[in-house]
Amino acid sequence: MRHFLTLMDLSPAELKSVIDRAIEMKAERLAGTARESMKNKVLGMIFEKSSTRTRVSFEAGMAQLGGHAIFLSPNDTQLGRGESVEDTAKVISRMVDIVMIRTYSHQMLEAFAANSRVPVINALTDDYHPCQLLSDMQTYHEHRGSIQGKTVAWVGDGNNMCQSFINAARQWDFELKVACPEGFEPNQALLDENSDRVAVVRSPKAAVAGAALVVTDTWASMGQDKEKQQRQRIFSGYQVNEELMSLAAADALFMHCLPAYRGMEVSETLLDGPSSVVWDEAENRLHAQKALMEFLLSV
Ligand code: CP
Ligand code: NVA
Repeated sequence: MRHFLTLMDLSPAELKSVIDRAIEMKAERLAGTARESMKNKVLGMIFEKSSTRTRVSFEAGMAQLGGHAIFLSPNDTQLGRGESVEDTAKVISRMVDIVMIRTYSHQMLEAFAANSRVPVINALTDDYHPCQLLSDMQTYHEHRGSIQGKTVAWVGDGNNMCQSFINAARQWDFELKVACPEGFEPNQALLDENSDRVAVVRSPKAAVAGAALVVTDTWASMGQDKEKQQRQRIFSGYQVNEELMSLAAADALFMHCLPAYRGMEVSETLLDGPSSVVWDEAENRLHAQKALMEFLLSV
């Protein structure tokens, strides 16, 4: 039994096979030839944070494959009233076939997985967001082919998305330049483990120079709402806009996991411009997670 808590839980070859299958499933959906590969399967979805894309993509994906998804918020479960994560995992995993969790603490996710009889998927923690990276790597592949050996620029907070890009740099073999203000770096141990391919710089211009892909994310992640104004001041020089994109490679793509705050981390117009693939990234959550669930239920 396998879990997907970070990108490091699958080998590079397994990640490639999931993305190949995601591309195939996308075509099957378009052609109307998709099989009901999840018939009678049930996905438990535990959400302790908000979501638009993650909830809709997992729930719609499960329905399209003939299965069923149960949305569980802390307001409705005993988890919200103090039943332990371990006990909750033991109970839920006797009833469903696969579980996805969006929560704050990565340790909570690990504790759930350690007590689960069925595969557990990380649907975002404070530390990682690996499902988004499956979708992002599928999207890059569809637009530009292999990302191996390319340079990717991360501009902004060294957050959960940035840390998943560090794991992706190792798994897909690309170079990552992270431009962030002092004090907002990704985890130091993770940087040290990947120092052969990941570098932190202060200047967004230095990071994006010649990059094949430029990525950013909100300056204030879920759980950091109180720091929002302070972060807006600190990150004000880190907006990704048309001028910054002009320093990247001529055919550079722009990605953002969304939700985006136009006029903050991204200019008002970049999301709708020719370099942006953000809507494909959002759509590909559906296909990539269907392929991931098929993989986890087949091993
Ligand atoms: N990108 C992403 O995970 O979006 P949601 O928060 O809407 O799920
Ligand atoms: N870094 C953001 C990603 C949202 C999908 C957050 O954690 O809120």
